[in-house]
Amino acid sequence: MAGRDDMWHPPADAWSRRDFLRNGFASAAFLCTLAPAARQGPRLVTSAALRARARSPFEPFRRDLPLIPEFLPVRQTRTTDYYESSIREGMADVLPGFQTPIYGYEGIYPGPTIRARKGRRVVVNQRNTLGFESNVHLHGGYVPAQFDGHPMDVIAPDGEFEYHYPNHQDAATLWYHDHAHGRTSRTLYYGLVAMYVLEDDLERELELPTGDYDVPLVIADHAFNKDGSFRYLENIDLGFRGDTILVNGAVSPRMRVERRKYRFRLLNGSNSRSYDLRLGKGRRMTQIAGDGGLLERPVGRRRMPLHPAERVDLVIDFRDYRPGTELVLHDADGEGSTVAIMRFDVARGGGREDFRVPRRLRPLEPLPAASADRTWRLGFGSGAWQINGKDFDPNRIDVSPRHRTSERWTFVNRSNRVHPMHIHGFLFRVLERSSGRVHPGDRLGWKDTVGVLPNETVAVLAWFGPYSGRYVFHCHSLEHADHAMMLQQEVVR
Ligand code: C2O
Ligand code: CU
Repeated sequence: MAGRDDMWHPPADAWSRRDFLRNGFASAAFLCTLAPAARQGPRLVTSAALRARARSPFEPFRRDLPLIPEFLPVRQTRTTDYYESSIREGMADVLPGFQTPIYGYEGIYPGPTIRARKGRRVVVNQRNTLGFESNVHLHGGYVPAQFDGHPMDVIAPDGEFEYHYPNHQDAATLWYHDHAHGRTSRTLYYGLVAMYVLEDDLERELELPTGDYDVPLVIADHAFNKDGSFRYLENIDLGFRGDTILVNGAVSPRMRVERRKYRFRLLNGSNSRSYDLRLGKGRRMTQIAGDGGLLERPVGRRRMPLHPAERVDLVIDFRDYRPGTELVLHDADGEGSTVAIMRFDVARGGGREDFRVPRRLRPLEPLPAASADRTWRLGFGSGAWQINGKDFDPNRIDVSPRHRTSERWTFVNRSNRVHPMHIHGFLFRVLERSSGRVHPGDRLGWKDTVGVLPNETVAVLAWFGPYSGRYVFHCHSLEHADHAMMLQQEVVR
């Protein structure tokens, strides 16, 4: 394998002007840190201290939430939607008054959302205009191995590749991102991240909020150089931690909402940061889906943990708030202070909607018995994070589950870091957590990524049903994955 860094560089403008630490904004100190949680209410507004710095480009709630554009197919047949996408450099309006160089699908961050229908094929031709290898992984998708975006299956510079997605799975909030081995922590950070919303008839019958009321939210932490370019500092142990939270590419934005229910599809698109989300002073949100689609029934949540790569669909009912209320979705960092993710500004009027989230969303398939039991120890060795003491080796198959069987996989984390473990190509159910009960929001649906907490052991039941072939599983803390915290499974017939 070629060296990891020799063919990689940040987006062009950042490269010429960046000047790491010395020029950093050091934005953390005066960023969106709010009053301690205890003093927060739904009417929380920007503190006086923040108002005094009103011209800081990091001031929260200054911009409206950017809505991610939807990808339009170039051609449709009776069975298939065709898309043409280019992986390229672009400029993003992240900080007011600055242009931020990025990499993006179609040159935007986040990339355009693909809306797919169960049973209809999607074909995306991806043209790589970057000066280094790239590829595309449909995270959470049931995808034949040759289209999965295996880290070693890459598109050469100036090359293109047609990804075929059969969409033979239930409605779910999926996402797609770069996966060329060894540099995904940087390519995702610089923007190669997008949503893929899969819909089906069963879900449609539930009449959940749609259209303007179905809103994808990509949450990711970043840091900046003085010229407004993204600043990336590698930390192999902890992973990258930025000091500024972006939602859909804007610093802690605000969104004007009507007094009715909304569906928010949240993706933690951060390199390594986990969130513990609260709405106002611990107000109720309703979780209706996780990584792999709808839960069996809605689950009320006052705090919503979200590890890297995880998705949750939340319904928030803004009829519960008086017109004019400003409601902050924030991250509780566990030290008494909170960081704003975004703010919902409840509009006047409305409140007459009578839709209720159905009590039953989707029957949960009975679990097939496990035909094998495997243990994966997550630990630090040879200067990097590893699984069972091994680094990723594309020439080695680490496990060969039989096609159409289930296996119980146990992730044992004796370290002091969170490892969000992700299996490509297959979904699983969370069975047990050594730290306590499995929350219904994790238990009542399918998942593809599970946060394994410090000193925790988590057992999952994975179903190797959809396709056979070679895939990977890895930690989705991207710095861990790049430095080889990844193994290979080959599903055999
Ligand atoms: Cu989000 Cu290997 O994936
Ligand atoms: Cu990890």
